[in-house]
Amino acid sequence: MSRSKRKWDHIQHALATGQNSNTGLEDIAFIHQSLPDAFLDQADLGTSIGELSLSSPIFINAMTGGGGEKTVQINRDLALAARSTGLAMAVGSQMSALKDPSEAESYRVVRKENPKGIIFGNLGSEATIDQAKAAVDMIEADALQIHLNVVQELTMPEGDRDFRGALKRIENIVSCSEVPVVVKEVGFGMNKETVSMLSSAGVTAIDIGGFGGTNFSRIENARRKRLLTFFDNWGIPTAVSIAEAASLKKDIAVIASGGIQTSHEIAKSIALGAGAAGMAGFFLKVLMKDGLEALIEEINNIHTELKVIMTALGAGNITQLQQLPIIISGRTHHWLNERDID
Ligand code: FNR
Repeated sequence: MSRSKRKWDHIQHALATGQNSNTGLEDIAFIHQSLPDAFLDQADLGTSIGELSLSSPIFINAMTGGGGEKTVQINRDLALAARSTGLAMAVGSQMSALKDPSEAESYRVVRKENPKGIIFGNLGSEATIDQAKAAVDMIEADALQIHLNVVQELTMPEGDRDFRGALKRIENIVSCSEVPVVVKEVGFGMNKETVSMLSSAGVTAIDIGGFGGTNFSRIENARRKRLLTFFDNWGIPTAVSIAEAASLKKDIAVIASGGIQTSHEIAKSIALGAGAAGMAGFFLKVLMKDGLEALIEEINNIHTELKVIMTALGAGNITQLQQLPIIISGRTHHWLNERDID
């Protein structure tokens, strides 16, 4: 199967299989505050991911590129939405364009449409130092995401089978990269031991890419007859994974993602310790079903709602939201208890 066909397949199946919505964020509750010392008009959504300053804690997470005219159009629209709303945006894996330069246009369009925006490049952990540099140069990226997607690869018949040496390659890329490197999962979550190893390798930001949203096991299983269905419910839920990563209290920025669809879920993710939240499948669905204007309106609404939530809780900025007390119940409480995480 051609790479281009696979990318279009992923988009179609991501839309068809949808988001699970069992991120564990339903187990998180804020404690109502009757005397919030806050003013809505002064709520500040600015945040940072390591060295990068962002005007919004939300970003459009990696999805596509390299799959023909349809993916050029999707990336163009996502870039226009990012420019209009001030969101950072990641492109999908650029490996195909490194192997076939004729595909680079579908990534470059993102920089062309949003010359001043914050844009993340994206490669897998098989990348070499030279490939990492080329991916950054291709789109003048402000940061580079390196994705870890072992379960997705194992579920794909044509996927990788040899995962040795990834940490060392990441360490080499980090030490040579001129832009910050963000290591991300793709919907199976990261445990605290993984985050600790990445931190020791010099990584300063991770996107936990938790379970509960877009599910690449379901997507791959839906594309063929041999089903590795035990992977369909495999992974660390987003809420648990944020708490695992944040519990390390290391100098590593924690980004939440995996199934996030609402302002309330973003606020809960930040209160669990994340500094920013990535959204992929939900934004794709809004764009494909309702179009670019609807996507821009949705993002603007989420920004407004986030400020409303922060004001109700008395948090004037993202740092204050991160420090608010929360109640953790149910499966998430159980998991964190088993793992000795407060
Ligand atoms: C993705 N994702 C992804 N991630 C990555 O690092 N490189 C990639 O090329 C892709 N490709 C891709 C295609 C499509 C169609 C989707 C929906 C997603 C994964 C994405 O960035 C994110 O980690 C997961 O989708 C989980 O977040 P959501 O979708 O639940 O918000």
